[in-house]
Amino acid sequence: MVYGFHMNKNNQKKIKITKNGPYLVSGNLPLAKEIIMPDENGDPIEWAKGDKYPNQEEYALCRCGQSKNKPYCDGTHAKIGFDGTETATRKNYLDQAEKITGPDLNLTDVENLCSLARFCDRLDGTWEFTKKSDNPESKKLAIQQACNCPSGRLVAWDKKTEKPIEPDFKPSLSLVEDYQLKVSGPIWVKGNVCVESSDGTKYEARNRVTLCRCGKSGNKPFCDGTHLGK
Ligand code: FES
Repeated sequence: MVYGFHMNKNNQKKIKITKNGPYLVSGNLPLAKEIIMPDENGDPIEWAKGDKYPNQEEYALCRCGQSKNKPYCDGTHAKIGFDGTETATRKNYLDQAEKITGPDLNLTDVENLCSLARFCDRLDGTWEFTKKSDNPESKKLAIQQACNCPSGRLVAWDKKTEKPIEPDFKPSLSLVEDYQLKVSGPIWVKGNVCVESSDGTKYEARNRVTLCRCGKSGNKPFCDGTHLGK
């Protein structure tokens, strides 16, 4: 099936959301699996790189969750009458964020964006570590946990510079694999890739966002953790 990639002739790295259909990815964006790795207590602590998919200039990724050829679209969305209505707010991240203040760090938090990767729950948790960020170990863990948050729900901010502390991501896509809970998670979009709504408007470009690929999120196009059956 042809999905109109001709709309993006300038090779811009972009994800175009189609109405009740797949994500059209263009600009030769790398695609690979990335796995949530637990510590000895079973709490997520780091990411491991998984299999890479072959490079393609353009490809269509399943958004309804029912393709037989995942992660790619096979047209099933049309057969099942997938309702992919985008219900997420168009507000920018900071206009929605709650701010947690600590001595050396601040933390911003938009709970609606949570994809339940759970790095933030380890040990005391990112919120507590932020509040104790005058302790170097707490500060390090707060930054590590916030930066491991795939959805960008959590962002740590350096209090002195007032700048966000972000991992250095190149534009790329990762398919989140949660082997611990035996489920595949969202598409982790890294490096400020443009995500364009089916209505033509653009979501705020961010270093980290997670897009639903199970078809069940209540905050489409973003993942809201429903793939875990919450
Ligand atoms: S992939 Fe997380 S809610 Fe769909």
